[in-house]
Amino acid sequence: MATFRKIGILTSGGDAPGMNAAIRAVARAALSRGIEVYAIREGYKGLIEDDMKLYSSPRDVSNIINLSGTVLYTARCDEFKYPEGMAKALETCREREIDGIIAIGGDGTFRGATDLSAHGIPTIGIPGTIDNDVTSTDVTIGFDTAMNTAMNMIDHLRDTCESHARCNVVEVMGRWAGHIALRTGIASGATIVAIPEIPFDEDAAIAKIIKQKNEGKRSFIVVVSEGLVGYAEKLAKTIQEKTGVETKFARLAHIQRGGKPTLQDRLLASEMGAAAVHYLLEGMSDIVIRKVDGKIGYINIKKALTVDRMFKGKLTDEERAALSPEDKVWMETRCNAVLGDMKRLYAIANEIS
Ligand code: F6P
Repeated sequence: MATFRKIGILTSGGDAPGMNAAIRAVARAALSRGIEVYAIREGYKGLIEDDMKLYSSPRDVSNIINLSGTVLYTARCDEFKYPEGMAKALETCREREIDGIIAIGGDGTFRGATDLSAHGIPTIGIPGTIDNDVTSTDVTIGFDTAMNTAMNMIDHLRDTCESHARCNVVEVMGRWAGHIALRTGIASGATIVAIPEIPFDEDAAIAKIIKQKNEGKRSFIVVVSEGLVGYAEKLAKTIQEKTGVETKFARLAHIQRGGKPTLQDRLLASEMGAAAVHYLLEGMSDIVIRKVDGKIGYINIKKALTVDRMFKGKLTDEERAALSPEDKVWMETRCNAVLGDMKRLYAIANEIS
């Protein structure tokens, strides 16, 4: 087993509720084994600029499990993608005697983690993003809280829509992924849900609103993923024109990134944080923690990034041809499972709205 005396922890990319619970879990799991933890500020930028403090007691992470945002702060750091940035980061690791790093974030964070691993610093990623767009895991930290926040905000919109006999088209986050929109749409009783992964039939959506209006329905909620760039606002205008229902547009935006983390997110973050330390101490590197079918495990970072690209249809023919037969089968099976689940939920959304 590898020997560790000091490890680093950082959060990078967009913040997500539950990141603090993961920081706490990593710090305490390490400290309980006599390993000190450098709390690196603002992600890879802090590693380059040697901006960090030492957690030497479990009390250093007291009372953060319930806080949103990230106490380590975060940044998207371009400099880290270049050799000069990496060289500075490695120098910091040498000077501070950092034996390994745990990096919490999304795909950009994992690219940084795999680079660090390749340069001899064992690094493990923890998926922390509200978007749930890490294909190799069922859930990411922050997803549950963001969905609950969106659902609660949509409940507010529903109240006023019903009073005024209006429609509200709500754009929710998710970057290119429709996971937040799909689940939030169902949980909010939306009449229409539109996401990038499944073709959207606008005429059918309009016909549905007209039919339900004629049957006496007063208010309508339409949830659209931001991944359909610019479409939500356009759809609001079309609905008003074609159905005669006064239609408002709301972009929930960054409100979805804040707020107290839910129990699910705190639990997931605690499980993943502890697991990351265990795997690091077992000598693992260049992996992302994942949760599939209720079980915590891990996957190689390059595989995780490749299956993401496959899911988004971004894999080139050459990249596909370079995959081993086992990886190809595994990745295709995983993509089909994720898309299959989205189609199943989408069918339910349509059936019960
Ligand atoms: O990845 C999280 C996320 O909130 C996405 O849903 C959104 O598209 C993006 O980040 C917004 O990024 P920024 O905070 O840099 O505006």
